[in-house]
Amino acid sequence: MCPVPWTIKYAPKRLAEVYGNDKAKEELKNWLLKGLWREKAAFLYGPPGVGKTSAAICIARDFGFFLIEFSASESRDAEVIRKKILDHVHDSTLFGKRMVLFDDVDIVFSKFDTGALPAIIEVIKSKRVPVVLTAANFYDPKLVPLRRYSYPIEFKRLSMRDIVRNLERICRLEGIECDPMALREIAKRAYGDMRSAINDLQFIAAGRRKVTVDDVKALVAYRNRELNIFETLGRFFKADSIPRAMAALTNSMVEFDLLIKWVNENVWRALNDPSDIKNVYDVLSWADIYGKRANATQAWHLMKYMMALTASVPLAARKGLKSFVRGMTFPLSVKMASLTKEKRDYLENMCRKIARKCHLSTKGAMRDIVPYLKIMLEANPKYGRKVARSLGLSSEEINFLVTGRLPREGSRRLEYR
Ligand SMILES: Nc1ncnc2c1ncn2[C@@H]1O[C@H](COP(=O)(O)OP(=O)(O)OP(=O)(O)O)[C@@H](O)[C@H]1O
Ligand SMILES: [Mg+2]
Repeated sequence: MCPVPWTIKYAPKRLAEVYGNDKAKEELKNWLLKGLWREKAAFLYGPPGVGKTSAAICIARDFGFFLIEFSASESRDAEVIRKKILDHVHDSTLFGKRMVLFDDVDIVFSKFDTGALPAIIEVIKSKRVPVVLTAANFYDPKLVPLRRYSYPIEFKRLSMRDIVRNLERICRLEGIECDPMALREIAKRAYGDMRSAINDLQFIAAGRRKVTVDDVKALVAYRNRELNIFETLGRFFKADSIPRAMAALTNSMVEFDLLIKWVNENVWRALNDPSDIKNVYDVLSWADIYGKRANATQAWHLMKYMMALTASVPLAARKGLKSFVRGMTFPLSVKMASLTKEKRDYLENMCRKIARKCHLSTKGAMRDIVPYLKIMLEANPKYGRKVARSLGLSSEEINFLVTGRLPREGSRRLEYR
């Protein structure tokens, strides 16, 4: 069975159980109780994992509202919004009070959400239901039209004290003995993000009855490597000269090959202008040609052209970076493309199995389960294997995750049957 994420298991049920941000919680309550909701939507904004969505869900529950939720993962097409809400609003008078939550409004306003903003504004202006919006940034240019219909409520990063208190509570309920220094270390690394602190605790504590500072440090070492990629990419894309871009690439702890893949994959995420994207891919394709030729012919002097061309990427993007580079995540295609076709198929087959068990998509299993399973297998092989087996993986598949090597032909055929 998949372990239930502790962020869900221990999610706050009442507003009073949401740690920190007392002022914001008070403002949210006033907005509802003093009827401010008839004028404006409550716009909860702030960094990730601090309890914005939780606060919205909890206040609805505290005051007996049925919550109609639009999350980032579902369609926010204007028609869907109108239909879903109007149906419910009609029911409102018959079956109790309704509240509407548009979660992460900044994330999914793409072409698929044509007319979503006007539809949301229409719902707010109808004054029939309290509307709560959440986003990272109240001042996001995409959301300008919403601002005059919104009452901003800022959520701040949580204090170490609040995070440690919650982690202590979870350890108590899970029967885990935890070194207070270990909890402080987790809280420190979370930078005010409760979600990431709880996730870290769950990974570190998996299969253990006791958590020590050393266990936390092992996870942090892994994290730093990932963080380093983001820092490097940030410094690289923002470089205003070739030497600076080169320094960003060469001073990183991450291997150069992998970095190039990241750059390749994230160009379109980092840049706004299509002509910039074209210029950058032109430069990258030349760099690739030199790199490949150097490798194939062992003419290593060609590498300097590859390096110089790659370092000129930030300058080829003349119109600049997106103001808000949020989506730079480890690209799935990089992971997949770095494997051979055979390995890719094998991995995909494995993810399909996990997906069936966990009611996820194959992509979801690849993104949300496999990387953590690998960490578990490394950090605590006995427990990791137990979890992997409960996900339906065979010993060969588990070995593949650990070593990256495919099993022998014969045994693999059996697996596929
Ligand atoms: N202040 C908090 N008190 C208690 N638990 C919290 C708090 N903040 C976050 N959590 C935990 O983290 C999980 C995720 O929090 P939540 O979704 O509310 O964050 P968010 O601020 O909406 O983040 P995002 O900006 O990524 O949407 C919750 O289910 C809960 O377990
Ligand atoms: Mg949220």
